[in-house]
Amino acid sequence: MSKSIGIGFLGGGPVTQAIHLPAIATLGESFRTVRVMDVNPVVANEVAARYGAIGSTHAAPIYEDPAVEVVAICSPNAFHAEQVMASCRAGKKAVLCEKPLAVSKEEAAAIREAALKSGTAIFVGTMHAYDPAYVEARDAWRQTGDSAIQVRNAIFLPTNDVYTDQATELVPVPAPQRQSGLLDVSIKKTMMRGAMLGLAIHDIPLVRDFHPNMGQLKSASFLPPFGYSLVSEAEDSTAELTGLMPGVWPPKWTFEVVGRSHRWYAEMPPSYVMAGSARIELSGSSGTRVFQSGTNGYQKLWQAVSDTVRHGAPPPIPLETAIDDLAFALDLADGIDHLLEKAA
Ligand SMILES: NC(=O)c1ccc[n+]([C@@H]2O[C@H](COP(=O)([O-])OP(=O)(O)OC[C@H]3O[C@@H](n4cnc5c(N)ncnc54)[C@H](O)[C@@H]3O)[C@@H](O)[C@H]2O)c1
Repeated sequence: MSKSIGIGFLGGGPVTQAIHLPAIATLGESFRTVRVMDVNPVVANEVAARYGAIGSTHAAPIYEDPAVEVVAICSPNAFHAEQVMASCRAGKKAVLCEKPLAVSKEEAAAIREAALKSGTAIFVGTMHAYDPAYVEARDAWRQTGDSAIQVRNAIFLPTNDVYTDQATELVPVPAPQRQSGLLDVSIKKTMMRGAMLGLAIHDIPLVRDFHPNMGQLKSASFLPPFGYSLVSEAEDSTAELTGLMPGVWPPKWTFEVVGRSHRWYAEMPPSYVMAGSARIELSGSSGTRVFQSGTNGYQKLWQAVSDTVRHGAPPPIPLETAIDDLAFALDLADGIDHLLEKAA
């Protein structure tokens, strides 16, 4: 293998420590971690030290270091767009930005312009969209010629600690104080937008594969402590999206499509879990086919980054598609705002 591709992390928190670094470790010598930047110096330096990398509390060294060919953006959502664009301006070969790519359509448009100018390949961390079993089973559905009548995406998760504790020993940071009491409309709107851009967005690329137009948002409810239940109805199909966390029950993450002659049913692996792909059943009159792989979406995502950087392969999910995915999530959030205001 030719030399390892150098990565610089912007944000060294749970997702860097418990998702990306373990996923990269399964890919042999493909990548090496060169730098870790975090506003918290303890996190930056301890995470960097574990990988023989250099820690910093400022982003500039990541942009300026030519050994950093790929920037992995794992900071809080509000910083994503600015950091993607700075990576483009620095002439990086690729950026893997955690979801969401940005928090507004204006930011997404500015990213498009910066990436076109620099030629930087942009990947978004929507891991299920890269899951090899998902891709194969979606293509098998398309070959049936069937179309979706109903799409159901249901995400029920315990706290992230359950996964991060199993994946790694996180560098400790103090926990924030929890808020309690009744929520007014503006808080509900903020929570629902956060849920669309934080949780629902994981599977928006999948939803759009089967239910491409949002249509009309028929209902939307906030589910305490943090979750949503909504129904969007387009001309040919309906999508029901539910998410709820943290629960005390085991995780359940499903994606189901009912068509005119087929049913497509997936049990998806939750975030942080490095235990292979989704398990998907495609059932029709000729029987049931099962799709499953030992490789998960995060590993495929990093393999795709490697293929782009080493061989110039186009990203499997074009930036334009990722921007449309984000726009769909933002349209849902706007529709929810409208329904919550109307109900108040
Ligand atoms: N793909 C997935 O499965 C998945 C799962 C969970 C979260 N995420 C996404 O990953 C990102 C990071 O999630 P997390 O749970 O690690 O978040 P977090 O907020 O717990 O941690 C992010 C880290 O970024 C640091 N930080 C704060 N401001 C920064 C800045 N300006 N620049 C660089 N670092 C900064 C924080 O100190 C912290 O260590 C989020 O965007 C989230 O939406 C993805």
